[in-house]
This record gives sequence, structure tokens and C-alpha cells, in this order.
Amino acid sequence: MSDPRFVTCAWQIMDELSHSNQLESSLEACLEILTRTMKCKSGCIWMANSTDHRYYIVANIGETDNCGISVGESDSFVSQVIENQDTSIVQDCQNDPRIVSDKSFSALFGDNAILVPLKTPYGIIGCLQLNDKQGNFNKDDEDLLENCGAIIALDIQDKGLSFSPNRDKTPLLSLKGVIKEFMSGDEMRRILKGIDLDIYEGELLVVLGESGCGKSTMLNIIGGMDQLSEGQFIVEGKDFSHPSEEELTQYRRDYIGFIFQAYNLMPNLTALENVEFIAEISKHPRDPMECLDLVGLKERWNRYPSAMSGGQQQRVCIARVIAKEPKIILADEPTAALDIDTGKSVLKAIEDIVKVDKKTVIMVTHNGEIAKMADRVIRLKDGLISSVRINFNPLTAQELTW
Ligand SMILES: Nc1ncnc2c1ncn2[C@@H]1O[C@H](COP(=O)(O)OP(=O)(O)OP(=O)(O)O)[C@@H](O)[C@H]1O
Ligand SMILES: [Mg+2]
Repeated sequence: MSDPRFVTCAWQIMDELSHSNQLESSLEACLEILTRTMKCKSGCIWMANSTDHRYYIVANIGETDNCGISVGESDSFVSQVIENQDTSIVQDCQNDPRIVSDKSFSALFGDNAILVPLKTPYGIIGCLQLNDKQGNFNKDDEDLLENCGAIIALDIQDKGLSFSPNRDKTPLLSLKGVIKEFMSGDEMRRILKGIDLDIYEGELLVVLGESGCGKSTMLNIIGGMDQLSEGQFIVEGKDFSHPSEEELTQYRRDYIGFIFQAYNLMPNLTALENVEFIAEISKHPRDPMECLDLVGLKERWNRYPSAMSGGQQQRVCIARVIAKEPKIILADEPTAALDIDTGKSVLKAIEDIVKVDKKTVIMVTHNGEIAKMADRVIRLKDGLISSVRINFNPLTAQELTW
């Protein structure tokens, strides 16, 4: 290769790779070298995740941090490049039909872009993307990036590194092609149109999406409050798509805790009595006072709901759910009715359930800021999952602001 940039660039990349065994940091260092050499403003590296068959951005250079964003197999320009195994140059992203039609991700491309599949002799493992070069990308750039991409891909393969965050875990719950239809007048309306989702133990999953897209419908199916029309619902490996009434009751009792937006506490019972009431009907309850302590309400155990603020009532509800010791906690807009400070105290309680108690929490919200504390964020659109993002560095509830 005659390009004088290649030797320097390849040498720097090999040097970087020889010092690192950690996937994300070595990729970011390589990306830094390549964006500098190419005089590009930004770039990223996509890697295939074998557990959910999506491609994720695992390294990123540029003004916005896009790490964790993903695209599904064959549903975007990036996945087409990877699957066709062909380098693609886009000189005018704003007007190129391949990018313009890729609505959700057009912002990731800048003015111009080059996408280079990362190939090993055993197959494609991802894609290198650089954006916003001064001037146009040319054949020399393409050759240089393909060669450097091959060095990176081989190193990843030699070291046995891969991006599979949940590879060795069995999902706690799985939705497979879940469809839900409702009768509306004399017409059947399809609300969920084929949801595929694995949920893992100890994760905080946030579900976003516009009003009416099916968030609560999905949550109700997961919570055993409603049943799917078609598809499969798997609970710890067991098919639970069409449970009997008895199985359903047992599932709700042993697995599910629901935190609603409306607090529905019993008005004539104190905070402690409200929690005790649930503890009494649970199989292995946790000490009610300890639960109140966890949500910061130990001192107020003797208060009636009418003498508590909205956030305090909501936290009693969380204590009540904790007392039941369910494996999965579902929260539908738990902070929607609260001001920011009270909302954050409720979110802190939810954060503790995940981090301290290692429970699984699925939380529906309209508030994109809350999504920043999630381990994973899915967005529903018109009955389908339109995007999945892994947060490599989730914020704490305290760090959120809205
Ligand atoms: N039991 C039902 N019978 C008929 N239609 C229903 C039923 N439950 C929900 N739907 C319809 O399904 C669609 C999705 O409702 P869902 O409550 O899941 O939306 P959502 O995403 O939770 O919205 P929001 O953000 O407003 O809470 C809506 O059009 C709703 O009218
Ligand atoms: Mg809803």
C-alpha cells in the first residue's frame, strides 16, 4: 500500500492493541487514531451482539456520546453495510436516500460518512464508521480503513474479545413475537405487533414511547394481568404463553410487584400497616419496618396516607412491593404525578431495589431523562420495539435533572 499515512497509522494501532485486552478501550484508542489520520470530526465502531442479534456502538469519538445505541439486523443502513460486507461511502448524508430513509439514525452520520465492515477470516464482527471528513472520502481512504479495520478485527478475534453483554445469562423473562389485539367496536386492533425482548435478572430496563404505543399493554402481559394474543411468553425457561388461572395467580404472587402511578394505599391504615398488609399475604415477606427504612420512611411509619405527600405515598407503595420480595418489579409511570425532588426520591428507592436487592425492574416512563439511569432503554413505536440502547455508564437517580 503506497499511502504514506498507512504505515504510521497501522503502527500506532498495533501499538495500542498490544497494550490493551479490553474491548471498548482498545477500540476507542484505535478510533481516535483513525479519526485523526482521516481528519474526521467523529466516528464510531459497531459490534454484533450475538445474544439479541443487534449491532451496538461500543466505541465513539465526537461531540455526542452514542455508545450503546443499537440497530436491528437488516433494519438500517449500518446493518445492510455489515450484512452485505461492502464498504460504503456517502458523500452527502443529508440528501442520500440510504441515509434519509434511515430516519432514526440519520443524526449519526454527519455531512459525509464512510462505513467499513470489520472482517475476519471467520466472518464479519462489526463495522467501523467515520463521519464529517474535511473534503470527500476517496479510494485511498477506503483502502487505508479497510486495512486498518482488518488489523483491528483480527486482534479482537485473536484475543477472543466480543461484545455480548448477556451472553452467559439465561433470560428471566422472554417475549417472543408477542402480539396483542383488542376489540375496538366491531373491529380487532393490533396493539403489540411482534415484540421480541429478553429481560435479565438484576437489570433496570426503561421503556419509552409515545402515548398509546403499547407500553402499559406490554407491562400488563409481563405482569400476568393480561394475556397475549399470539407469540410466546417464557418465564425462567418455561412456556407461560397460555397459563391457567391458578398458574397466573401463583405467578403474580411469586414473581411480580407492581408500582402504579396512582398510589392506591388503604386510607384507613398507617404506612406501616399498609406494608404489613401485603407482607401478611406473601410467601416469604420481608420485615415491613425494614422496607419502610429502605425507602426513607422509617420515621413516618405511623402516618396515614392523607398526612403524607405524593412522593411519600409512592414510596410506601414501593416499600409494599419490596415487602413482597418479588423477582420482578414493574413500574408504570411511577413519578409522573410528582415534582422533581419527590420524583428523585422515588427513583432512588427504585435504584436501591436494583443495585442493593438485585431485583429486576421494568419501568415505563415518558421522561427521557429517567432513561439515563437505566441499564437498558427500549423505545416502543406503534406496537414494535423501534430502538434499544445499552447505557454503559448509567447515571444515579441523584444525578438526574428535569
Ligand atoms: N383493554 C383494552 N381494550 C381495548 N383497547 C385497549 C385496551 N388496553 C389498551 N388498549 C388500546 O391499546 C393502545 C395502547 O394502550 P397502552 O395503554 O398500552 O398505551 P401506552 O403506551 O401505555 O400509553 P400511555 O403512555 O398513554 O400510557 C391504546 O390505543 C389503547 O386504547
Ligand atoms: Mg400507559
